[in-house]
Amino acid sequence: MPVAGAVAQPPEPSNLIDQQHCMFCHTSDAPFLAPSFHQIAERYRDTPNASTMLEEKLRHGGKAHWGDMSMPLPDDRGGPLSAEDARTLVQWVLSQ
Ligand code: HEC
Repeated sequence: MPVAGAVAQPPEPSNLIDQQHCMFCHTSDAPFLAPSFHQIAERYRDTPNASTMLEEKLRHGGKAHWGDMSMPLPDDRGGPLSAEDARTLVQWVLSQ
């Protein structure tokens, strides 16, 4: 018996989102403290390699692209983020 959720790719990785407090600053469609995930998806839709850049940024930080405030690093968001988890999150954000 497979453990529930271990194999199927959930449409929304809610555990990760909770654990990393993404929704503390983002919402899916209304800009709040940060651009909405919808805006982010729009902006990067036609950018090649955007997901690679965003995965790096989620894990190690980087230059701000939207304003003066940049994203906090994983350690300040709730814990380290694996490459695989970063990919899951970015794929989800870009599908918004
Ligand atoms: C403390 C507030 C905060 C939290 C928590 C947060 N973000 Fe952000 N996020 C921001 C801000 C501010 C920006 C805009 C940064 C910039 O200008 O590049 C941003 C930008 C982004 C971007 C676009 C980056 C770019 O280079 O354009 C992505 C993707 C993103 N966040 C995903 C996430 C995900 C996924 C999580 C949860 C793992 C998360 N954020 C948690 C504040 C936050």
